[in-house]
Amino acid sequence: MNQITFALAKGRLAEKAMDVLKELGISCKEMEEESRKLLFTSDDGRYRFFLSKASDVPTYVDHGVADIGIVGKDTILEENRAVYEVIDLGFGACKMAVAGKPEKKALLESGGLIRVATKYPSIAKRYFEKTNRPVEIIKLHGSVELGPIVGLSDVIVDIVESGKTLVENGLVVLEDIEPLSARCIVNTASLKVKHSEIRRLLNDIEKKMEERK
Ligand code: PRP
Repeated sequence: MNQITFALAKGRLAEKAMDVLKELGISCKEMEEESRKLLFTSDDGRYRFFLSKASDVPTYVDHGVADIGIVGKDTILEENRAVYEVIDLGFGACKMAVAGKPEKKALLESGGLIRVATKYPSIAKRYFEKTNRPVEIIKLHGSVELGPIVGLSDVIVDIVESGKTLVENGLVVLEDIEPLSARCIVNTASLKVKHSEIRRLLNDIEKKMEERK
């Protein structure tokens, strides 16, 4: 029996993914213990799990060191790797949006140069290119809402979940880009080499997610 390796975006997504796998009878006691370990084996020895930074999950899957990855659609869009996206898991739902001070709505429609602060430069570039508007993209690594507040940028392209961060900083959604949620991605070669194991597992995951709806 081939061992299947998962790369999981550490944090809430990994916890939710492990809950789904547990419901399918795949348990991993060593991951439930408090530790700084990054690589785990399931209790039955049939699965391995890496806990990695979200943006690295598509890299591990693309290189084939992980067969399956569980990561947000935002990361998949930004990293743009040659992997199969196979299941929308539904959890971790949020959206990618353009946000800023309400008065910036006019600038977005003016055709003038828009300064955009973001952790997602590829998504932002593609979005504004598609709508034919000139932009200067300013890459930030976190707390991007600061951009428009301190005058570094006109708007941000970022994830909006509850909307609380925007409200508390006097910002609003100006344009929706796209809905996001956790997705299952698969390495293209694994899907051939470990076809029956992966297919069965994906079917079980899909069925479980349907039941939860
Ligand atoms: C994300 C995102 C927003 C916030 C949105 O940031 O970049 O800042 O969450 O959530 P809300 O709509 O529920 O307020 P994260 O917490 O990952 O921190 P970071 O900005 O430092 O990356």
